[in-house]
Amino acid sequence: NTVFLNGDFMHADQARVSVFDRGFLLGDGVYEVIPVYAGRPFRLIQHLQRLQRSLDGVRMKNSYSDDKWSDIIAQLVTENGQGDQAVYLQVTRGVAPRDHVFPEGVEPTAFVMSNPIKPLPESYKRDGIKAITVEDIRWSQCDIKAITLLPNSLLRQKAQDVGAQEALLIRDGFMTEGSASNSYAVLDGVLYTAPKDEKVLPGITRDLVLELADKAGINYREQAVSDADLHRAEEIWISSSTREVLPVTTLDDKPVATGKPGPIWQQIDALYQRYKQ
Ligand code: PDD
Repeated sequence: NTVFLNGDFMHADQARVSVFDRGFLLGDGVYEVIPVYAGRPFRLIQHLQRLQRSLDGVRMKNSYSDDKWSDIIAQLVTENGQGDQAVYLQVTRGVAPRDHVFPEGVEPTAFVMSNPIKPLPESYKRDGIKAITVEDIRWSQCDIKAITLLPNSLLRQKAQDVGAQEALLIRDGFMTEGSASNSYAVLDGVLYTAPKDEKVLPGITRDLVLELADKAGINYREQAVSDADLHRAEEIWISSSTREVLPVTTLDDKPVATGKPGPIWQQIDALYQRYKQ
């Protein structure tokens, strides 16, 4: 497996980062996860735009131009055998003696790896997944794709501990998103997802879901759903670059409506699969 680190391609075993890297000591960095289908990065421009947004949000400079990032990703995907892959890209503020204050004149650490996309269990789409609701304990700038994922990890583990595949996060009585996904609910035939503000990550898959819904004439609103409404929803879904769009059919140990993947999810999933080609 080949990785890219600070300008060079190398075997993963050969890649070394200093223990003084601010990513390691402070979680001071941002990242992207980009799906690659049949060797082609999916919605790459949108991912690179979001990377720039995250970098701006934490006052870091971009190591490369979009063209250069595209070249790096293309080469890495080729080296790692094309096919379906997930590219992970991260930029940290670089290596410096530990200090909360930003160092001066330090080059960012740029790292990219790619791995085959793990095929999801067939049951996820056939039967749907389980989710639990938990209090959203994250910070107030969730629109930045920061590597600082301790809250997300704690919440996702809570789900894992009770045999659920995702934790749906509730802030001030309303669903924001999943621990590693955007989230949706269908109420009275209308699709709802939280608006793109500082409480959620502006998901690339989310944008595509709404684009597809729009084209299909599905009514949708970018409006957060209350915890109570979520528990009476006709359909609940999650979306992410690595899990596509998945139906949640069990919420907090109770079936969502009939307990089967819903018709609007089926429509969106079919459109998504076609769009991927
Ligand atoms: N996570 N919200 C959160 C908190 C996420 O971590 C992710 C994705 C999403 C979905 O965004 P997108 O559709 O752009 O993948 C929403 C990635 C996959 C991860 O951390 O591995």
